[in-house]
Amino acid sequence: MTITRRAALAAPVVALAAPAFAQSFPTRPITMIVPFAAGGPTDTVARLISAEMGRELGGTVVVENVAGAGGTLGAQRVATARPDGYTVLCHHIGMGVIPSMYRRLAYDAVNGFETVGLVTEVPMTIVGRRNLEANTLQELIALIRQRREGLNLANAGIGAASHLCGMMFQAALNVPMTTVPYRGTGPAMNDLVAGTVDLMCDQTTNTTEQIRAGTIRAFAVTTNERVASLPNLPTAAQAGMPGFEVSVWHGLYTPRGTPEAIVNRLSSSLQAALRVPALVQRFADLGTAPVPAERATPAYHRRFWQADIARWRPVIQAAQAFAD
Ligand code: MLT
Repeated sequence: MTITRRAALAAPVVALAAPAFAQSFPTRPITMIVPFAAGGPTDTVARLISAEMGRELGGTVVVENVAGAGGTLGAQRVATARPDGYTVLCHHIGMGVIPSMYRRLAYDAVNGFETVGLVTEVPMTIVGRRNLEANTLQELIALIRQRREGLNLANAGIGAASHLCGMMFQAALNVPMTTVPYRGTGPAMNDLVAGTVDLMCDQTTNTTEQIRAGTIRAFAVTTNERVASLPNLPTAAQAGMPGFEVSVWHGLYTPRGTPEAIVNRLSSSLQAALRVPALVQRFADLGTAPVPAERATPAYHRRFWQADIARWRPVIQAAQAFAD
């Protein structure tokens, strides 16, 4: 099963004539909400693009972490904010599963947002504490089958990418493990490095530097090809787990009702940010790449997101994998 982009219609990048208020936008700092704790992969992506968007907009984009409840508290903050362009959400694949996983939310998980554009798609890695008694994915699988709930798997709450990947990993092995939720995989990584939690499935934007430093053990990358920044890490298929593919798309959102001209202005600044060589290089160092410009548009993002919601709904309902 793959959680990755699908072929979708590319949309032309449409520049609309902006009303006067949009031409002066922004006149004060913009807040970019990250729905997970600081120091994790979502935070990393947000801080990289917010700095470049601020420069391009001639203003400031300030990142604020609003963590908890698998990323839904941060999403709620944006869905209920004034639709004036000064509150933006940076979120990921969780936006595709939350509408089906959470049945009682205090905001509209589908119609509560305007889409600004996709940002990047990040591979995941299966990683463990440095002294785990397994050196390869096959040895890890044998250990999991032997230890079962005796091994624990960190994640960032129900609906987080680490939760989805961990859920799929356990399903693929048909072995239940003990899960340990955190407010983000940034804090979870601290415990993995300290050896107080055993395993995690997390994005290369958060694991690459720890893997290179040897502070955690890596078993596989969850894409169908190796990642250039981690050339020695086999894919799950090469490590004996074919078909286990997971990558995490990210997008920006504003509250529903944000004027189209403002949304387009934010989208054009996102597209410009994604072309900045230093950002492209940093993304590459962390195992990822900006999406092509036509995917960083409101129309493409909305179609992509709606298709992801539709794809996950039957999977979640069949598994009864509800958060509430
Ligand atoms: C994070 O930023 O902490 C992660 O994206 C959480 C997750 O989705 O696993």
